[in-house]
Amino acid sequence: MTHPTRNIAVLGATGSIGQSTIEVVEASEGRLNVVGISGHSQTEKLCLAAQRVQPDMVVVTDPASNIDTEMLPSGCQLLSGEEQVISLVQHEQVDIVVAAIVGFAGLRGTWAALEKGKTVALANKETLVVGGPLVMKLANDNAAKIIPVDSEHSAVFQALQGAEISQVKRIILTASGGPFLHHTQDQLDAVTVEEALAHPTWQMGPKITVDSATMMNKALEIIEARWLFDVPVEKIDVAIHPQSIVHSLVEFEDGSVMAQMSPPDMKLPIQYALSYPDRWPSPSKKLDLTEAFSCDFLPADTERFPALALGMEVAGQGGTAGAVFNAANETAVAHFLDGRLQFNRIVHACRAILEYHDFDPNPSLEQLTQLDAWARKETIQWIGA
Ligand SMILES: NC(=O)c1ccc[n+]([C@@H]2O[C@H](COP(=O)([O-])OP(=O)(O)OC[C@H]3O[C@@H](n4cnc5c(N)ncnc54)[C@H](OP(=O)(O)O)[C@@H]3O)[C@@H](O)[C@H]2O)c1
Repeated sequence: MTHPTRNIAVLGATGSIGQSTIEVVEASEGRLNVVGISGHSQTEKLCLAAQRVQPDMVVVTDPASNIDTEMLPSGCQLLSGEEQVISLVQHEQVDIVVAAIVGFAGLRGTWAALEKGKTVALANKETLVVGGPLVMKLANDNAAKIIPVDSEHSAVFQALQGAEISQVKRIILTASGGPFLHHTQDQLDAVTVEEALAHPTWQMGPKITVDSATMMNKALEIIEARWLFDVPVEKIDVAIHPQSIVHSLVEFEDGSVMAQMSPPDMKLPIQYALSYPDRWPSPSKKLDLTEAFSCDFLPADTERFPALALGMEVAGQGGTAGAVFNAANETAVAHFLDGRLQFNRIVHACRAILEYHDFDPNPSLEQLTQLDAWARKETIQWIGA
């Protein structure tokens, strides 16, 4: 049986989300056609991905990275440099852009796609953390859709189908709690890079894995949810759910709670963002309801994980707070991974730089870009590296 084809571009095809997207494409039975893919430094992995999905274009965003063109499929066009992401996402053939570049670097491609009215399957949460109101306005002005890929936001998005946001009493984002859920404060002070990179339920890139361990990931997700669903922060809660089966919940005015459940596997929310509003058979793991399993829910501990309270504050403030918070976190995580910052100091660094910056409630994109650079410099100074 043939299916109508959706034409996609995959930004960050060499990463964890990017590779899962390639698997989703391969299992799609022709429903998905890849126009182009991008990668930054892992050029061999990029060529292997190109061999699997046969795109028309490949973009290497890091101009210093060499690529063996012999490894690319024949007829595939090679483009080099960060600005080429714009050529790819704005290509007339592209219907949907999978935004899976990590960090602030992901903003440019998403912005360019929304400017042209494309649908964005958004994995890069940092885009909404940095510029939520501007990004949502851009999407609205250009009749572009943003479909979340983050599993929590995908769950909320799914629970909201057929409902009005005005009927929502609370959005409850679930969190696995990461590898240090039961650590004492003293144990948290001594966390190593290796320990922080060993997530109990999810396989992800290094930055988001550290974010999960500090619970910064949930802080970023609170901010993401605030802008994506246009709900005040007072309506967003976090519950710890160590099994990562319930991906989030929506409580409605009448007390009904809708949850989305599936084993922890990003292929499902990626595919849903690409198939929306349809559903297709998926290559993701399935829940086996013939076997007993537990679904525990615990309150979040904001004392041991101060990132959560910080995320709520930043989501409530809006303006320039998200951009500064995000830049400080990205810089602090990079220093932690290099062994130059203690695990527990990541959150302190973010709070210090946030408190130090001149808050503006209505920044422009240019201002946010400048603030991103400023906050990175200040964080390095604060760390003393
Ligand atoms: N992994 C998950 O399960 C998951 C779940 C929800 C949301 N997310 C979000 O999805 C995004 C990607 O996460 P990930 O875990 O897939 O990260 P990852 O494995 O580290 O992959 C990051 C991707 O971004 C590319 N990249 C890095 N720096 C870049 C730059 N300066 N310019 C252009 N491209 C650059 C990398 O290219 P090279 O590898 O070629 O250098 C790679 O393709 C993040 O925003 C994360 O928060 C991830």
